[in-house]
Amino acid sequence: MPQHVRGVVARVKGEPVRVETIVVPDPGPDEAVVRVQACGVCHTDLHYREGGINDDFPFLLGHEAAGIVEAVGTGVTDVAPGDFVVLNWRAVCGRCRACRRGRPQYCFDTHNARQRMTLSDGTELSPALGIGAFAEKTLVAAGQCTKVDPAVSPAAAGLLGCGVMAGIGAAINTGGVGRGDTVAVIGCGGVGNAAVVGARLAGAAKIIAVDIDERKLETARTMGATDTVNARDTDPVEAIRRLTNGFGADIVIEAVGRPETYRQAFYARDLAGTVVLVGVPTPDMQLDLPLLDVFGRGGALKSSWYGDCLPSRDFPMLTDLYLQGRLDLDSFVTETITLDEVEDAFARMHKGDVLRSVVIF
Ligand code: APR
Ligand code: ZN
Ligand code: ZN
Repeated sequence: MPQHVRGVVARVKGEPVRVETIVVPDPGPDEAVVRVQACGVCHTDLHYREGGINDDFPFLLGHEAAGIVEAVGTGVTDVAPGDFVVLNWRAVCGRCRACRRGRPQYCFDTHNARQRMTLSDGTELSPALGIGAFAEKTLVAAGQCTKVDPAVSPAAAGLLGCGVMAGIGAAINTGGVGRGDTVAVIGCGGVGNAAVVGARLAGAAKIIAVDIDERKLETARTMGATDTVNARDTDPVEAIRRLTNGFGADIVIEAVGRPETYRQAFYARDLAGTVVLVGVPTPDMQLDLPLLDVFGRGGALKSSWYGDCLPSRDFPMLTDLYLQGRLDLDSFVTETITLDEVEDAFARMHKGDVLRSVVIF
């Protein structure tokens, strides 16, 4: 029986989101219905509302979530009703060229639920990142559910579904931070601060946090930054060089998504260093660099999608670290809110007041 539940819907580009009744079908083959327990508010939800991702309105927002599997369709063997899961937006196929070559994090045949959730009048909804978890229940592909230890609080576990994983993975998976490395993180919002945490977990010797907001730098210090630079009054490239004996950092992680910070990341790295690009630029942005500088510097320029994570490998590993007290996910949760407060949370996020607002059900 299809179920009627409450969900946060963006109907019209740029207009405030509203809680509406949505219809969740029974899971079909390889699908699962999940009772959502927590879902974080991410910038991407706001980008959907603003029409910045695509025009497939109406959207069912929310994609950074954890919950309990309620029902599964035929053919589902990895998860069962009652399992505590973190939702991911990368259910890998296992068959494409990337998967076969041992790089499932670049799978180009990831899939979501085949059926659509709808409004009560039958209008099909586009779930954000194929998830749509600002809803009491949601329909996903079973492969989007990763089982983790139920001892973890839903609010903490859900964070791994997007921003925190993107940041930790940028440092560990994409950047390959190792023991003794010097790391600089430009932009210390939720993603950048998670990169600080990832660098610390990987054993970096020095972690330089850069932001223009002193509050974010304070948080970065509690997350493990050894040095902070306020780019409002200090040239971050010079500061990073000075703090690394003139060399530049081994790994520079850009978590803002603007041409000037991309440029800073490029010049703040050691000659053989790695730049990891996490911040998502807008389509109109360009980066101008002298070719001689591109040619004359070694190292690597890498972009990081979803922290190059493999949910089945990384989510259980990170929840274990959390339960051991080695990964403080709770500090990312600035506030918990109800489903009716998502629009207000967008405003606070926009002002930079929060690392994460998390809807609790
Ligand atoms: N220099 C340094 N920091 C800056 C600058 C700048 N010129 N401009 C903005 N910032 C800081 C902001 O003060 C903020 O702390 O960058 C941070 C961005 O953080 P958030 O807005 O909270 O965004 P977050 O969720 O962390 O995502 C960062 O990564 O995944 C992408 O789409 C995401 O592009 C976004 C980026
Ligand atoms: Zn694949
Ligand atoms: Zn997100």
